[in-house]
Amino acid sequence: MMVAYQGANAVSNKIEINSLDLFYGKFQALKTVGMSMRENMITALIGPSGCGKSTLLRCLNRMNDLIPGVQVKGNVRLDGADIYDSSIEVAELRKRVGMVFQRPNPFPLTVFANVVYGLKVAGIRNSSRLKEIAEQSLRAAWLWDLLKDKLDHPALDLPLDQQQRLCIARLLAVQPEVILMDEPCSALDPIATMKVEELMMELKKKYTIVIVTHNMQQAARVSDFTGYMLLGEMIEFGVTNDVFTKPTKKLTEDYITGKYG
Ligand SMILES: Nc1ncnc2c1ncn2[C@@H]1O[C@H](COP(=O)(O)OP(=O)(O)OP(=O)(O)O)[C@@H](O)[C@H]1O
Ligand SMILES: [Mg+2]
Repeated sequence: MMVAYQGANAVSNKIEINSLDLFYGKFQALKTVGMSMRENMITALIGPSGCGKSTLLRCLNRMNDLIPGVQVKGNVRLDGADIYDSSIEVAELRKRVGMVFQRPNPFPLTVFANVVYGLKVAGIRNSSRLKEIAEQSLRAAWLWDLLKDKLDHPALDLPLDQQQRLCIARLLAVQPEVILMDEPCSALDPIATMKVEELMMELKKKYTIVIVTHNMQQAARVSDFTGYMLLGEMIEFGVTNDVFTKPTKKLTEDYITGKYG
């Protein structure tokens, strides 16, 4: 089912999802999902636990490929090209479409080594180049002033919100185009959450962001578009303000008014 936008303009879609089915063995976790993600916008995925939000998010950079027994049908296009096509280099795709997880997951290395990790893997050895990109990435994640004198400190000693922003800096260093965030604030307190939300608003100027959140206020605050999922289906997808103030489906209304979920 392709759910039409409410209030769509001719803006380019970074990602287009069509008739997407996903099976974990015999269990169907996504059912003919259709939606798209606009370039330089934040798209939120909401819905009750187990409805398939993380599964859908992981389809966007083929992280589900890592789970045995997964079968995907339908298509996901990134800039018009099917990412499930056999010609796609998955490592390259995951660089273009990076992911931030629920729990910050810095490597047990220094701050600097975390930020430049992906660059080193990509073979960049020039130390002034690495320093330059590390500074740019930390600045972009609003960490430079906090951490410029702590580049050699263990990343795991940082407070959780700085760890999460460090994971964002680590992504930015490899120059992604899309940033996927799976409940990126669920381990953070309200002030740290606000900081990450503000950072997202800043990052969308350069990147396309997709966020999964359990927190409807968060979806309403930060996102431009919202998709409401239930039992593997995309029930409603549209401009965030419309979804929250005048949903077209009774199921959506029940969820956002707290009658369900
Ligand atoms: N690796 C897996 N193997 C089998 N089933 C899975 C796997 N991962 C998820 N599922 C099932 O797929 C469905 C969707 O799960 P998913 O994690 O995508 O939901 P979610 O909306 O992200 O939930 P939550 O809000 O709790 O994170 C659930 O029924 C879940 O049990
Ligand atoms: Mg999830």
